[in-house]
Amino acid sequence: MTKKVALIGGSSAGIGKAIALGLIEKGVEVIITGRTARLNGTKEELQKLFPSAKIHAINTDYSSADSIQNLIQTINALSLQPNILVLNSGGPNPGTFEDISLEDWDINYQQQFKSSMMLMKAFVPAMQKSNWGRIINISSTIAIEPTPGMILSASFRAMLINALKSTALQIAKDGITINTLCPGAVMTDRLISLFQKQADSTGKTLDETIKNVGTTIPIQRIASPKDFAHLAIFLASEEANYITGTVIPVDGGLVKKSF
Ligand SMILES: NC(=O)c1ccc[n+]([C@@H]2O[C@H](COP(=O)([O-])OP(=O)(O)OC[C@H]3O[C@@H](n4cnc5c(N)ncnc54)[C@H](OP(=O)(O)O)[C@@H]3O)[C@@H](O)[C@H]2O)c1
Repeated sequence: MTKKVALIGGSSAGIGKAIALGLIEKGVEVIITGRTARLNGTKEELQKLFPSAKIHAINTDYSSADSIQNLIQTINALSLQPNILVLNSGGPNPGTFEDISLEDWDINYQQQFKSSMMLMKAFVPAMQKSNWGRIINISSTIAIEPTPGMILSASFRAMLINALKSTALQIAKDGITINTLCPGAVMTDRLISLFQKQADSTGKTLDETIKNVGTTIPIQRIASPKDFAHLAIFLASEEANYITGTVIPVDGGLVKKSF
């Protein structure tokens, strides 16, 4: 996968970082993003592991349209043309219809949906010209099976999946594939903070909560970021050229539906 350039959202930690690492291993030049100073730490860590890898780190907040514009301008100024786009950022806050304010809906529209459209508008035309591109959306099983306490996630992820499906049908002829991966439970900072909230509200310890959740998954354990990243890396490859428009749970069997 040399001569490929990947832009990976939310990649200073968690799932995005595991995907960045896997793509670097395959020889891909990567652009990693995140809001905070830990992005530089991640760049240094990855560069130490792969001294000859081309790694660019650009601080970006996906909840800000200006910040996304700045990301696009910086990539253009570096004369980079991402042909692998991993659509990912921090997930929305948990909460029910009653908990979520109208302002939360606006912020998450930008972060969970419009950021992806902005990046695709910026980079898909060049993919079309070169007749090659891979777009991989990191979503959630909540998009398939909504729960009352994750209303923002359930809503915007379903909206994005349908926008991507429409686009996948239109640009498949241009050598561009678009697929969505749905994590169930992957051991990252985000999951640990969600478990901590659950532990606090039930009076259980964090360890007990993690163990209990593990037993609800048919495979009987929570995934590592690496377990999850394998399929994203395959979907970014040449060999995945006949797979597009899909929504694939990578969830240890959590989602119960057949189709
Ligand atoms: N882990 C799971 O079990 C699970 C399950 C279902 C769905 N998901 C979804 O998968 C995605 C990735 O989750 P994760 O578990 O890898 O989360 P994570 O461990 O919290 O990592 C999130 C990454 O995104 C960055 N980020 C957070 N907010 C951002 C923003 N507004 N703009 C740009 N970057 C931002 C974070 O860096 P900074 O904080 O430095 O910005 C970090 O690099 C999320 O959408 C999450 O909801 C995860």
